[in-house]
Amino acid sequence: MRKQIAAANWKMNLSKNEADSLLDQLVASELNLSENQSAIFAVPAIYIPLAIQKLAGKQQMFVAAQNCHQKANGAYTGEIAASMYASVGVNHIVLGHSERREFFAESDSLLAEKTEAVLAIGSTPIFCCGEPLSIREAGTQNSFVEAQLKNALFQLSADQIIKVVIAYEPIWAIGTGKTATSAQAQEIHAYIRSVFASKYGQTVADQISILYGGSVKAANAKEIFSQPDVDGGLVGGASLIATEFTAIINALKS
Ligand code: PGA
Repeated sequence: MRKQIAAANWKMNLSKNEADSLLDQLVASELNLSENQSAIFAVPAIYIPLAIQKLAGKQQMFVAAQNCHQKANGAYTGEIAASMYASVGVNHIVLGHSERREFFAESDSLLAEKTEAVLAIGSTPIFCCGEPLSIREAGTQNSFVEAQLKNALFQLSADQIIKVVIAYEPIWAIGTGKTATSAQAQEIHAYIRSVFASKYGQTVADQISILYGGSVKAANAKEIFSQPDVDGGLVGGASLIATEFTAIINALKS
């Protein structure tokens, strides 16, 4: 069974006090994570020490970064290297979120470098892909997403690609309240898996966790996660509400 993952993406939200209280509520919640499930919290970098402290000793719960720099170190004012995150216990890094692609001009080739940097130090990239509304309306989402994957990930070996978590997030569903239907999610997740199967073989493709993101909430998580090629979710807005995110974690396949 592939790893089933509920990943919270807090984005640039919450004060320290709010972060503190949300983490306290999450830790106090009834979470039944089995061995092949995990809950991952991509918090703003400045709250990482706080999140690590609050989640200490919690099984299958991890703190993640929302981005990192592609270089190992050097004169890059304001940036944080993957190895720095690892040194404080953060071994998952979200890469290529559509907001980073759009507002920070992150290209597939830059994301190829970042992915390699994260893998090089033994951490796990959570690599985001997904199409804008115009592409979905034109019906060319499969080839659009395929190109994102090929351009950023196909230089990796089979041993490396099985360490990457994919998050498929249609941009038209992010923060809009519009979710892809579970059938739409399943269709493109199966397509993404077939793209990896054609390059790396079915056995490798079957080991890659593919998360769905875009207006996932407690009310729709179970239905979306029940699809055979959906291995959990990357959750923005609903991850800021403890009861919502707890229900989303508990909707993971076991
Ligand atoms: P949303 O965000 O759940 O608020 O739609 C998802 C994401 O951007 O990762």
